[in-house]
Amino acid sequence: MTIEFQATAAASGANATERFRENKKAAASSSQERVSQLASRLIKAINDTVLEEKVTYDEYNALKAWLIQVGEDGEWPLFLDVWVEHSVEQVANEYREGTKGSIEGPYYVPDSPQLDSPATLPMRDNEQGTPLLFQGNITNLAGEKLPGASVEIWHADDEGFYSQFAPGLPEWNLRATVIADADGRYEINTMQPAPYQIPTDGSCGKLIAAAGWHAWRPAHLHLKISAPGYHLITSQLYFKGDSHVGDDIASAVKPELILDPTPRADGAGREVSYDFVLDPA
Ligand code: DHB
Ligand code: FE
Repeated sequence: MTIEFQATAAASGANATERFRENKKAAASSSQERVSQLASRLIKAINDTVLEEKVTYDEYNALKAWLIQVGEDGEWPLFLDVWVEHSVEQVANEYREGTKGSIEGPYYVPDSPQLDSPATLPMRDNEQGTPLLFQGNITNLAGEKLPGASVEIWHADDEGFYSQFAPGLPEWNLRATVIADADGRYEINTMQPAPYQIPTDGSCGKLIAAAGWHAWRPAHLHLKISAPGYHLITSQLYFKGDSHVGDDIASAVKPELILDPTPRADGAGREVSYDFVLDPA
């Protein structure tokens, strides 16, 4: 691993903490009963682990030191989004009959530039990687097209880096809000993202190394699909054949969310179609 990559990974954690605070997602309040119920269960789960595994003072102190360090590294957003968010997403989207959801992850930024379909995502003149034409329809459960639906898309570049979190990338690189056409069709030209390794140089990386796990997420596109009168869905799409599609560290892959792009007839990279189905609000 190069020094440059290490610097980038550390910065990503701190930036994710800053962004989470700015987005003020933690504003909702819960009743005393609910706080007591959830806190009691979490504390009990920890105590049960200590008792059943006969945790030693050395192990307890190692945990204490590690928890302190996660905060100092700004890696709580990373830790939670990798190891916990998938269950929250499962609960939140249980009711849906349309497109499956997946985790948002720590690298979403609201208010990306709005583009009409067919669109090319903002990218550098020399953006590396395989061009990808990503297209399809947005409909409701009855199969009716939803004109004016929007596709918010953000993803890593060919090196696995996200704009606004890794330094040196243009502000909105590989991020946009694409408005579907009058037939509810979207067409997006982008670059295939690379598999993504969660930062390995901070506390989450230390845990992964100490446990002998790996740090990889399969390559993925992040998406938020919405239309007036329908529930917004936050999801991700993956790529068939990716070596990490079967062992995502964030447990966020679902079989319905795997793309199988084919080479384009004109030789300009690959193309794939995916139709989104929205649940009524
Ligand atoms: C993390 C990064 C991602 O791109 C993602 O989708 C989920 C989690 C992370 O580093 O925690
Ligand atoms: Fe991601």
